[in-house]
Parts: sequence; structure tokens; C-alpha cells
Amino acid sequence: MKVLVIGPGGREHALIRALAADPYVTDLHCAPGNAGISRDVSTHQIDAQDPAAVLALARELGSDLVVVGPEAPLAAGVADALIEAGIPVFGPTKAAAQLEASKAFAKTVMAAAEVPTAMARVATTTQEAAEALDAFGAPYVVKDDGLAAGKGVVVTSDRAEALAHAESCFEAGGTVVIEEFLDGPEVSLFVICDGTHAVPLAPAQDFKRIFDGDQGPNTGGMGAYSPLPWLPAGFVDEVMERVAYPTLRDMEHRGTPFTGVLYCGLAITTRGIRVIEFNARFGDPETQAVLARLKTPLGGLLMAAAKGELDDAELLHWRPETAVGVVMAAENYPESPIKGATITGIDTAEAIENVSVLHAGTTNNAAGEVIVDGGRVLAVVGLGADLHAARNSAYAGVAAISWDGAQHRTDIALKAANGQISVSEGTH
Ligand code: AMP
Ligand code: GLY
Repeated sequence: MKVLVIGPGGREHALIRALAADPYVTDLHCAPGNAGISRDVSTHQIDAQDPAAVLALARELGSDLVVVGPEAPLAAGVADALIEAGIPVFGPTKAAAQLEASKAFAKTVMAAAEVPTAMARVATTTQEAAEALDAFGAPYVVKDDGLAAGKGVVVTSDRAEALAHAESCFEAGGTVVIEEFLDGPEVSLFVICDGTHAVPLAPAQDFKRIFDGDQGPNTGGMGAYSPLPWLPAGFVDEVMERVAYPTLRDMEHRGTPFTGVLYCGLAITTRGIRVIEFNARFGDPETQAVLARLKTPLGGLLMAAAKGELDDAELLHWRPETAVGVVMAAENYPESPIKGATITGIDTAEAIENVSVLHAGTTNNAAGEVIVDGGRVLAVVGLGADLHAARNSAYAGVAAISWDGAQHRTDIALKAANGQISVSEGTH
């Protein structure tokens, strides 16, 4: 099977590694990729958000399957162009990707499908925003309605800050969604969908804030681990029954069946499971941790989904170990990351047992060195018998790598390793 992966980041590097391990995948390409991906497979410098360019490349390569990583090409209609040309694609159509691209649309679907989520109001003026903030009370949650790479959300107890974020979205011509605050631990569950059937991957937890102790601004994600030893038994089944299947049925009913990853971002609150958000793709950096444990060949799974041939009963096989991924980010991320620093120690880190290094924002300079080329630069994934061991592996890898201004969190999966996450019984 010839596979083309679309995207530039750490999630795509993880997809490439997992696809390369599938014995049925004979030919693997990526566009545009990054410095790490280009060491593993051939990369192609096209505009990945241009449906015609992606289609032309898939034709030229004779791709049997195209796997689209990020949200922007999906929202731009890359999947639609491939479907129209008869090329199997793993990723939703532009219409189905609205589940991520518009938070207001996602709320409409959840209401119709009776999926539990935060109460929300849409606001288009400062007055409406102020009224919604006062209706829900602090802490305030204000979300830009459109795609914002995980950075369009402000959660704060400062009313002035909440209102200022809403106003900045209005000034940019946008709409905001204001929500009730959801307490409780967060879980990311990736559900592989073929339009009708659905198969869940192992749950993961992501760390959104830039600094230790969940301080500082939101980022795209600073680390992740999987599986989650503190989850109540039956959690995944409950999410499938109450969230994934009702959503799939509603999307089918609307004439926009969903194929690809339905990423369920969930909070386990004192009042039960609530959807925080849907995404229409794999999460980054959760994918780096989740796929490190997947034993089932990934290419076959994604091809079955793309062709509408997924069987709900499909049993996935997982390594018994735990995976922890730690993101190393550029100086000044998430505000305005500073690019260009030379990275050292990647090979040393990869030589450590149970450590792998996945590239995100990296490129090569003229001398062939790997340099910083984005906000999130690398994800260092460690495998281990338990969370402590996996953390030790990941952080041993991180310690081997350096560049000027590199930053990472030191507390990824720490609370879970110490047994400090609890979910009240019977509330989910
Ligand atoms: P989103 O872009 O909707 O995923 O939001 C990004 C992050 O903001 C989430 O992962 C949560 O940590 C936080 N967040 C979003 N919505 C809520 C909410 N209603 N209550 C509490 N935290 C939230
Ligand atoms: N890790 C969060 C995301 O991919 O949106």
C-alpha cells in the first residue's frame, strides 16, 4: 500500500513512524514534512492547504491512501478533492470538518445528538458577551469561534480579561462562544470513524499550559501520556455510547457523514462526562504518546476507515507499556517563537533505550544541521513499565537535547504517576 501523509508536525512524524511499521505499507511519503520526517521518508514541498496541489501529488505518487494530519487542509477541502478523484483519504470532508472548524456548529450537533457538553452562548457584540459572562459567572471561558490552533481560548477569573478577549475576537471580525466552566480532569479520546462505524484508540491526557503546574497561557500542547491508570472502568464505552455514536449518527443524518478521527476532548466533572471540544483530526502531542503503544498495523486501520469498511468490533492491540511524551518548545513560545537555533543531541537521545524523538518545528540549515523552525520543536517519547519509568525515559531523552532558549515542562504525567488524580465514583 502506498501512503501519503499531509502535514508538517510532530503528529505527522508519529503517523509516519507507525505507518512505516505496518508491513503492508510499501511506500510512504509526506508533504511538506520537517527535518525529522525527511530522514525517514521522501518529503515534498507543496502547499498542503491547496486541494489541487495535494491531489496532483497523490496522483503523481500513485498513492493508495492519503492521511491528512492537520485541521487547516481539511477545512480547506483537501479530502473533498481526493474523494472526488476516487482516491481513498483518511480525514473528513470540509463540511464534516466543521465539527472542529466552528465551535458553534459543534454545539449545534451536540445539542441535536444530546451529547453532554458545557452550556454555552454565542456572542457577536460586547454587550452580549458581558451578559453571557455574568450569566455563567467565574471562572470565565471565552472561545474564538474559528480555528485558532488551540490558542483562541481564554479561561480566567478576571472578568475584564475575559471581556477583552471577546472584544479582540470581534475586532478580528469573529464570533465568540462563552461557556460554563467545566471542572475535573481532561481526557483526549481519538475515535477512528468511517462515517458509520467507530473504533476508539487508547485515551490520553494532554498538558495545554506552557508552564509547570498548569500556569501561563494555553499552547497547542506541551506533553501527553497514555493510557490513563486513573480512569474509571467503562469510561471509553460510555464515551462511545453517549458521545461518539450519537455524533456520528447526527452527522450522517445531516448528509455530512464523518470519516477520520473524531477527537473527543472531554472533562470528567463532578456531574459526569462533558465534551469540551471536538476536533476533526488526531491531537498533537497526544498522538505521539498513543501511537507509541499501538501494535495493530495503522495503515490497514486507516484504509478501512477511509473505505467505509471499519468494523466496530475491530480489536486493537496495544503494548502493555505506558508512553509519556514531553514537548520541547522554542524560546518565546507560544507568543512569538524564536527560530534558527541549532539543535544538538537528538541522536544521543534516540540511542537511549525506550526513547524516540519526533520532530515538529524543525528544518535543516545550509550546513545540514537541524535547526528550530517553529513553536513546538520536538516531542521526546519514553516508554516504560509504568508512568514513573516512562517519565524517566522521556526526561532522559530531553536532558540529552539542547538549543539556545529551549523550554519544556518538567511535570508531564507527574500527578498521575504520584496517584494524585482522582475521579469521584458514580459521577460519570
Ligand atoms: P478548546 O480549544 O475548546 O479545546 O479549549 C482549550 C482548553 O481550554 C481546553 O483543553 C481546556 O483546558 C480549556 N477549556 C475549554 N473549555 C473549557 C470549559 N468549558 N471549562 C474549563 N476549561 C475549558
Ligand atoms: N493537543 C491538543 C490538540 O491537538 O488540539
